[in-house]
Amino acid sequence: RLELRCLRAGARALVLDAHPALSVRRAALLPPGGAEDGEGRELPFESSPFASYGSALRIALPEPPRPGQLLAVRIDYEAGEGPGVCWLTPEQTAGRQKPYMYTQGQAVLNRSFFPGFDTPAVKCTYSATVQVPEGFTAVMSATTWEKQKDNTFIFKMDHPIPSYLIALAVGDIVSAEVGPRSRVWAEPCLIEAAKKEYDGVIEEFLAVGEKLFGPYVWGRYDILFMPPSFPFGGMENPCITFVTPCLLAGDRSLVDVIIHEISHSWFGNLVTNATWGEFWLNEGFTMYAQRRISTEVYGSAYTCLEAATGRALLRQHMDNTGEDHPLNKLRVVIEPGVGCLSPLLGVNPDDTYNETPYEKGYCFVSYLAHLVGDQGKFDAFLQAYVEQFKFQSITADDALNFFLEYFPELKKQGVDSIPGLEFNHWLNTPGWPPFLPDLSPGQQLMKPADELAELWAADSLNMEAIEAVDITAWKTYQLVYFLDQILQKSPLPEGNVERLSTMYPKISKAQNAELRLRWCQIVLKNNHEPEYSKVKDFLRSQGKQKYTLPLYRAMWGGSESARALAMETFSVTAPQLHVNVQNYVKKILGLEVAE
Ligand code: BES
Ligand code: ZN
Repeated sequence: RLELRCLRAGARALVLDAHPALSVRRAALLPPGGAEDGEGRELPFESSPFASYGSALRIALPEPPRPGQLLAVRIDYEAGEGPGVCWLTPEQTAGRQKPYMYTQGQAVLNRSFFPGFDTPAVKCTYSATVQVPEGFTAVMSATTWEKQKDNTFIFKMDHPIPSYLIALAVGDIVSAEVGPRSRVWAEPCLIEAAKKEYDGVIEEFLAVGEKLFGPYVWGRYDILFMPPSFPFGGMENPCITFVTPCLLAGDRSLVDVIIHEISHSWFGNLVTNATWGEFWLNEGFTMYAQRRISTEVYGSAYTCLEAATGRALLRQHMDNTGEDHPLNKLRVVIEPGVGCLSPLLGVNPDDTYNETPYEKGYCFVSYLAHLVGDQGKFDAFLQAYVEQFKFQSITADDALNFFLEYFPELKKQGVDSIPGLEFNHWLNTPGWPPFLPDLSPGQQLMKPADELAELWAADSLNMEAIEAVDITAWKTYQLVYFLDQILQKSPLPEGNVERLSTMYPKISKAQNAELRLRWCQIVLKNNHEPEYSKVKDFLRSQGKQKYTLPLYRAMWGGSESARALAMETFSVTAPQLHVNVQNYVKKILGLEVAE
């Protein structure tokens, strides 16, 4: 049931985003203010092609509604296997006992979950009644929920949100309390580990977030640990973040993902990018907010270290694509241009996903903070920004104009047009950020790692110097940073990787996903065949896109045997990957992708 208010006169049809995976049975106009379950007046409808990632559902209206008129439309449909709705077999879960289903909306996948306005420009409240089989639990991104008889769950989201934040998961899921407004949810076999990982730590992040950015409006903040094939590290579904089980490192070392998703509670979920072409508004502000919270909780040394690993990812990405690649701008062209005849030429927003909106976006927000020059004043601006635009969808121009209005002195000085640093340059020019925030507070942690990497890159290894460095106390991100340096210097001289591997089992036999990713990248870049099986094992154990694609790219760009490893691994793991990830891998391997 969609409840709508007509804005403009003359509408003869309601056109909704939909998907070939949706089978629409019936559409009907419900009587105004009529009974909830009325059959209503049947309306003719038709589906037509729209883009590679969805179709248009056109529902004819009996007469054009007046501007301001309310109407309710009921659509009866079935959602099958589509990109937004994942149906998993028991073998695809952690417990391997019961099937599981979940939805992933961002960016444009929810049109295969329900017909609607699948654009971040439109926000609405929602409610859902979900009946599941005995022994299953349903969770949704909703502010309230209750369980009624017959395994029926009633959900309500009281705040307006964009369609991509509507999310549902159903499985053998249980929960445990980890804070005054937080629970972890997971399959029974993971719940102890989940509780242990985050018990008593979430509340501090929320409290610091509230201090910095204003009230947390969503009521609860829960975390759902997903099955291993979940394609993202985290997804900021309001009230309940969905995360990869890779976060269960046992030592809280990957908690920055949680801080990131919590930060979306203000940036993204309250203030939302109006178009996917300005995704950096969500992710760049969120990276900045994440690192503000992290600085308050863990200090600037650790946070700058983490930011340096982010910068390394941006460097790798730009090296791979070339700095001038059109996706290396903050503002990406998604819509087909004026005069373009076929809407099918529009870009799938999900295909634009890369490090630029995150890390270049972070640099731009850091640059704005640098212009202000006073952290307290910039924090106050961020809070005012959230207050000004909460529950709205905005463009970068809205954000930047607000910045200039908020700091009239800066506006007078013309800070938006300093040569080489023009706001428009930031937005529209691809390439390396023209301003990098100072990460030197992280030097105390980075320097030993830099020096050690230097030693390992030498032609003849100075083992005495290497053995003098004790890495046992290094934090995960210090090791990550070290491995990124090694990767950058790879291939290392013959034999060095093997010695490194034996010297540091803490790295080469790590269970931590971020370390495993780097180790596998190093193994591949050095063509270190004795450890190829680790790549396969890692790719079997999880299906996160940001881990999977770089490894397939590395294999495909490598030796004959690396290519064979890619094919062999993919043939085993393909069925357990999210369809989008499957398709991206196929593209890398030059295999046919079914539309
Ligand atoms: N919203 C994103 C995930 C996303 C982006 C899903 C685009 C679909 C399309 C989420 O907040 C995110 O950025 N997750 C990161 C975590 C990180 C940067 C700490 C991830 O999954 O790696
Ligand atoms: Zn994010």
